[in-house]
Amino acid sequence: MDNIFPTDQILQRTDKEKLLEQKGIAIWFTGLSGSGKTTIAIALEKELHKKGLLTQVLDGDNIRAGINNNLGFSESDRIENIRRIAEVTKLFVNTGIITICCFVSPTEEIRNTAKNIIGAADFVEIFVNTPIAICEQRDVKGLYAKARKGEIKDFTGINAPFETPANPDIELKANEWTVDDCVGIILENIKVQRA
Ligand code: ADX
Repeated sequence: MDNIFPTDQILQRTDKEKLLEQKGIAIWFTGLSGSGKTTIAIALEKELHKKGLLTQVLDGDNIRAGINNNLGFSESDRIENIRRIAEVTKLFVNTGIITICCFVSPTEEIRNTAKNIIGAADFVEIFVNTPIAICEQRDVKGLYAKARKGEIKDFTGINAPFETPANPDIELKANEWTVDDCVGIILENIKVQRA
């Protein structure tokens, strides 16, 4: 950190929140691949957009194709993946944007890393709890079949761990509830605040 001089004269977060008439927050979805994180996030974003709120969705597939395209799925790469994403999320949140993050984020350590970087006050953890049997049966991307055949190593839920979140703010039984139900529950539980 030598010779780095962060500027302290830039406009503050509150100035931007006032301009947008909303408060920044990170809505962090965790869950297995194929659990429905991105589907719910997209539907949630549409609802927020209709209410006149500015949002940004970040998800594993687009982030890993771009900013994190040098990272794989070892434990250390996943930690680095989430560290960078959390730093980017913090920038969005500090600009007053409702930032919706969809990442497997499979361990408590990884989720805590994100929460610590973003700040607990700006972080809502949503566990998209779809049983692995259902995710595997759907297998939208064909990845579970490949993992079972041994063609993908370190695949979450098959040969890499997914630790059930101990204390999520919201838990969605996404295989029992409709996407609209899930969005409704999120909107009831998160106070989308106007600045
Ligand atoms: S995380 O574990 O580092 O949080 P992330 O959410 O970015 O994962 O990426 C997960 C997505 O990458 C999955 O939805 C899936 O499409 C794809 N993927 C490819 N290989 C793996 C793997 N070994 N484990 C989990 N997901 C994988």
